[in-house]
Amino acid sequence: MIKIVLAGSSGYGGVYLRFLWDHCQDYEIDIAGVVDPYVEKSPYYQTLQEKNIPLFNSMEDFYQTGKADLAIIASPIQFHASQTEIALMNGSNVLCEKPVCAGMEDIERMAGFKDKYKGFVEVGYQWSYAEAILDLKKDILAGVFGKAEYFKTLVSWPRSHAYFNRNNWAGKIKTQSGQTILDSVANNATAHYLHNMFFLSGKTMSEAVLPQIEDCVLGVANDIENFDTVTVRSKTNDGTVIYFAAAHPVAVNKGPVFELKFEKATVTYHAQEQQEIIAVFGDGSQRSYGDPSATDWRKLTMCLDKILHPENELPCNIETALPHAKFMVQLYQLYPVRRFKEDSIRIMEVRNAPVTVVDGLDETMQKSYECMSMLPGDRLGR
Ligand SMILES: NC(=O)c1ccc[n+]([C@@H]2O[C@H](COP(=O)([O-])OP(=O)(O)OC[C@H]3O[C@@H](n4cnc5c(N)ncnc54)[C@H](O)[C@@H]3O)[C@@H](O)[C@H]2O)c1
Repeated sequence: MIKIVLAGSSGYGGVYLRFLWDHCQDYEIDIAGVVDPYVEKSPYYQTLQEKNIPLFNSMEDFYQTGKADLAIIASPIQFHASQTEIALMNGSNVLCEKPVCAGMEDIERMAGFKDKYKGFVEVGYQWSYAEAILDLKKDILAGVFGKAEYFKTLVSWPRSHAYFNRNNWAGKIKTQSGQTILDSVANNATAHYLHNMFFLSGKTMSEAVLPQIEDCVLGVANDIENFDTVTVRSKTNDGTVIYFAAAHPVAVNKGPVFELKFEKATVTYHAQEQQEIIAVFGDGSQRSYGDPSATDWRKLTMCLDKILHPENELPCNIETALPHAKFMVQLYQLYPVRRFKEDSIRIMEVRNAPVTVVDGLDETMQKSYECMSMLPGDRLGR
């Protein structure tokens, strides 16, 4: 029997509950507790009660009497470091949702867990567990494509006002009590795809790199503290350019789209047009790796398998996820968030929900992606 404690029961925590109930029949699982101070707001509150699942206000409360083989942390970003540590101190392994944490204090704290605790900690970047990505990374490391010239990714995803109002931390930099959150388009919804380029640049299967930022423009149109639009270009020590463009104040859902240019091949993916990763070599021959989004729950089943088979290797631990967290700190420290010009911002209905949109931003993001350029300054105010 694998005992699980889950932190967070609405939002993505609710998605975990559904998966554990509906798709984990191959495992003997006992949800030993759900930790959520606002559990009564969860769409699954009644089901949790019907199933007699013990409910707790804090991880400390759970561990007073409870035990778990795996703690799943799907709570807000600012709780990831402390809840992961409480779980490890009490002998659990951890699957912590992305981003691993926010801010230098928590980054340093989590970097120390490896030497301090026995349990494993994996981070929930689902693409890093996908066979398509892992097979591609194996080929990159084996030198099949030659030297990497550039990796670039575009994600244009409209997000409604309900998304930014779903909790008290969306789009925030810090909590009222001063805890770092750094929630943004690049640290939340599209974090996966920026992390993915760092992950694919890693020198081993579970390593990721932290590239040096060369240029960056951060924009905001929604009524939030942090940015909802980013273009950033960076470079690894090996000279590979890593470019990322992502935006929420757009009208049309596009991406993730990526292009990885190597000496001997170009590797592409387009979520809307070609749901598989394809490498095209100089001689025209092709290799397909499949759809990286087809196996989103492998992150959980691989952790369950690791508990049953401790010799298994896992791909995305704290160290793998820290470059992304450090990159977020650098964006915050080095680049101002500039508001889009007021006369270009309007509210429109996208899929029956009000979305703040910047006129022409869909096309601007596409052009920026094509040229790996920054969001033009004339679109932004001070
Ligand atoms: N991997 C993915 O694709 C994916 C998708 C969505 C969200 N996430 C991640 O999951 C995490 C949660 O995001 P969300 O959008 O569900 O947030 P949310 O704010 O919608 O939900 C958070 C849940 O945690 C609960 N909560 C608040 N304080 C808590 C505490 N101290 N302890 C335990 N629970 C607490 C809330 O009541 C709520 O149930 C974030 O890190 C986010 O980035 C990952």
